[in-house]
Amino acid sequence: MASSLASSLRIVTGNAHPDLARAVAALLGAPPPPDPAERFPDGELRPDVGRVQGADVYVLQPTGPPVHDNLVELLLMLDASRRAGAGRVTAVVPYLAYARQERRTSPGHGIGLRVVADALAAAGAQRLVVVDPHTAGFEASFALPVLSLTACALLVEGLTQLPAPPEVVVAPDLGALPLAEHLARCLGGPSALPVAVVRKTRISGAHVRAEMLIGTVGDRRAVIVDDMITTGATIEAAVAALHHRGATHPPVVAATHALLVGSAADRLAGLGIASLLVTDTVPAPTRLPATAVLSVAPLVADAVGRLHRDEPVDDLSAFP
Ligand code: R5P
Repeated sequence: MASSLASSLRIVTGNAHPDLARAVAALLGAPPPPDPAERFPDGELRPDVGRVQGADVYVLQPTGPPVHDNLVELLLMLDASRRAGAGRVTAVVPYLAYARQERRTSPGHGIGLRVVADALAAAGAQRLVVVDPHTAGFEASFALPVLSLTACALLVEGLTQLPAPPEVVVAPDLGALPLAEHLARCLGGPSALPVAVVRKTRISGAHVRAEMLIGTVGDRRAVIVDDMITTGATIEAAVAALHHRGATHPPVVAATHALLVGSAADRLAGLGIASLLVTDTVPAPTRLPATAVLSVAPLVADAVGRLHRDEPVDDLSAFP
């Protein structure tokens, strides 16, 4: 990409995923990001964004686990960029925590996403870039302009390169249905692949129950697609639902955000799935079964480069 960008475009990063930030900076021909923040003995972080006066600054930091450390570091970097006189400050958050808390589900709950949105703006973000947020309604919590990128094309590329590409797309819950339908259109060419959906009930943070599979899988090779895998409970329940309904092939699993907390990797390894495709919106997980980690660096670099040059980004958007 254009090396002239280097004069005013700066990528800044924290401890959450410096490898991704370095890859994005290299693709853009921008200076390598400064080292992530130092940590004081009591746990406080003190980021140093360097000399960014007048620059177009992109603070790249996903907020996967440890969620609050990464979120606070992101806020501190935004504040530091603003105080250092950056010309424009964009938060690039490939995985944004709290996106699932975009509404109240009990009278005693807050709206976590709204709190995060306000904090990002107060810290100095003038714009937000994310990848595959949990819902299309996500943007409504933000007064800032938001660009929601999608890794769908990456997943499609990975899936079509499998020795036996999928023939049916399965949404493991109703929330994943728009993503499954989008993937089915991308995979199916002129006629979309069929879609099936699992009706899921969440029992606790780490346990869910599949109530029923709506649609037919049978002897077709299935891909189960979700925006994120946290504990693996949702995927486990979906795989069980497919077995229960007599699916004959082990499914492929594809997801954008592989948080894989606790024993999720072992849980997935025990499911007998054909393969797992994820992206590196958070650092690539280890100890996974037949895993392919697809990098979002080119997608993010493309978006940042276009935003820097004030070019259209509509075709990159998850929700045109
Ligand atoms: C929820 O609606 C999300 O789309 C995912 O299905 C969920 O967060 C996955 O979490 P877990 O892996 O813990 O079931």
